[in-house]
Order: sequence, then C-alpha cells, then structure tokens
Amino acid sequence: MALCVSKYGNYHHSHRTPVTQPTTRKSAMTVRMSGGGRLASYEEGKLERPNWTGQTPLSRLVGALISFKPLYSVLKLGARQVLISTAEKTNVPWREMTKEILESDVYKELESIQNTSLIYPDYYLNPFHAYDEGNLSWLAAAEAEAATMSMVRRAIPDASSLEEANEIVRGNWLNAIEQHHQQYSGNLKIRDILDIGCSVGVSTRFLADKFPSAKLTGLDLSPYFLAVAKYKEKGSPYRSNSFQWIHANGECTGLDSQSFDIVSISYVLHECPARATVNLAKESFRLLRPGGTLVITDNSELSPVLFTLMKSTEPFLDEYYLLDLEKTVKDAGFVNVHTILTDPRHRTLTATVPY
Ligand SMILES: C[S@@+](CC[C@H](N)C(=O)[O-])C[C@H]1O[C@@H](n2cnc3c(N)ncnc32)[C@H](O)[C@@H]1O
Repeated sequence: MALCVSKYGNYHHSHRTPVTQPTTRKSAMTVRMSGGGRLASYEEGKLERPNWTGQTPLSRLVGALISFKPLYSVLKLGARQVLISTAEKTNVPWREMTKEILESDVYKELESIQNTSLIYPDYYLNPFHAYDEGNLSWLAAAEAEAATMSMVRRAIPDASSLEEANEIVRGNWLNAIEQHHQQYSGNLKIRDILDIGCSVGVSTRFLADKFPSAKLTGLDLSPYFLAVAKYKEKGSPYRSNSFQWIHANGECTGLDSQSFDIVSISYVLHECPARATVNLAKESFRLLRPGGTLVITDNSELSPVLFTLMKSTEPFLDEYYLLDLEKTVKDAGFVNVHTILTDPRHRTLTATVPY
C-alpha cells in the first residue's frame, strides 16, 4: 500500500490492483475530422491489446534485453535519437525549441509553482523517457512540447503539416468530449475543466480554445513542466479563459469534491502503473460534478518495433495494455462509458458521473 499526500492535506491509500484483460469490440466506426470535413474510418476492434504485450515470449525477451544495462543504454539512446530525428524530419524544430526554453526566464516560475512538501509516487522517481531524472528535470520540460508535436506527426504521417495532424488528433479528441458532454451531462455548463497530467500545458491550451468560457486548471507532478506551462501561457496570445497550474498528484489532488465539469487525462496512463490508473479514475469521479464528463485519451496500439523502443523508456506499457480501462472507469462509479478511436493510433474514452 502506498501513502498519498498532497499539499492540500488529504491522504489516502492506493492498493495494488489485479490487472484484467481488456474487452474488445468489433464494430466499425466513422470519425469526422474537424476543420476540413474529411472523413476517416477507424475500426473499434483495434482496441485489443497488442499481442506482444504481457507474458508473451516477445514481451519477455524485450524485458530481459532491457534488464541488461549496456543494452538498455543503447536502446534508450536509440529511442531518443528516433524521437529527435523523426521530429526534425517532419519540421518539428526540436533542438531550437529546446534551446529557446533553456535560455529563457522559465526558471523564475519554479518557486511559485513547486509544492516542496509533495511526496512523489514511487513509480514517478524512476528514469523515464531516456531522462535519468524522469520528468523531474529542465531538459525533459524543455523538450516536452517538441515531443508532443512529434507524437502527433507520427500518428498522422500523411498530414501535410503539424496543424493538419493536430486537427485530427486533438480535434477529434475535443469533438469527442463535446459530443459526449452534450449527450449525457443533462445540460451541465462547462465552467471548470481539470487537465490531469497537463505536462507543459499543450492539452490545457487546446481545451481552453475549444471551451472559451471555461476556467482551466492544469495539474501535474513535474514542477519543471508546470513552470514551462505557466511561462508559455504568459507568452501566448490573449485567451478569455483563466488558468491555474497545480503541482500535485492526480491520484489525490486535495481539490474540492464536485468542483469540475470536465476532467481530462490525455497521454498520461501509458506512463502509469495500473494502481495509479485506478486511483486517477476514482479521484476524477470525486472531483466531477454530477453530469460531469471524464475523458481519457491515449495509445490504442503500437507496432512491435515501436513497442520495443518505447518499452525501454516507458516502464509501464505492459500494465497499460493489460488493464481493462472501461471496467476500471465503471468500477470507479462512471456510467455511459464509451471508447472510440479518434485517430489511427489513439483511443478516447468518455464517461459520465451519474446525476
Ligand atoms: C505525456 S505527458 C501528458 C501530455 C499532455 N496531457 C498532452 O496531452 O499533451 C504525461 C504527464 O503525466 C504526468 N503525470 C504522470 N503521473 C501523474 C500523476 N499521478 N499525477 C499528475 N500528473 C502525472 C507527467 O508528469 C507528464 O507530465
């Protein structure tokens, strides 16, 4: 059992959760791409976990290779090189963006954001994403936005620009939230949105643009990421939304119960052990008002090559693919739980707090 403590003084215990097999569906669906009005068909049947995760020979081989330190270092370096070169090949100026942040005044934001009494969950303190300090470093924070752009470009390789890829990846995710909320919230207005695992604020800013009258709260475990988020938001064009950035654990935020209309968790869960995902679902349920919408978006499947490369820098990929996310969310109390593929590489789950 892990003790979870936040700045706001609440405590709860997290339990190790048995990992169950995911449900699979076979129906086909059509996703409208925002903006250009193009249509793309994605099959919901692809929500099945990749068959090289879990206790398969390939997965065990990958695990054994990674536990051999010299090879791990090579794989880690390889994963990093692939990320940077893929980004730069698709015109994401990775090194320039990183330099700009590292040479800016971003450091001044840290003191006002950092909660020095926060106790990090154990999983967060491991080397991660090829950074020895995981997400707890300026380099990771400076590279995070370029990494996000690159992920979007990889998801839609045929897109002619980052904007076009974002229209699909982020646009379909935002439309899924809007449609689910309209259908199931009982007319609950969208006034307060919480972005758990907001990183450097990219998802928070997309949510703000989609819902211009909402107040945005970005919450993350990395004070370095939050410092970049705040710095970037200050330098962004005017938005009508207000923003606050909170350094806390999404598993036990200490924020008031029923204080949000939407809780979003995007691209966070593949970085978390199953026990954290269970806690994040329970905490989201507590934080949402009746009729409120939870939205989770993350990887649907990966090629074996990408899986092997990613597993060397993402220690919880197996747990992510083996957990039945819909069941986890239903067990937390949510209803109207639906999952769709919002682009070829990502699934989006939406769910409602009953009223
Ligand atoms: C890939 S980033 C998220 C990207 C961002 N939401 C987006 O859509 O661009 C994952 C983030 O989850 C954060 N994170 C992981 N576990 C967390 C937890 N228990 N509570 C809050 N944040 C967490 C990490 O610090 C990291 O910033």
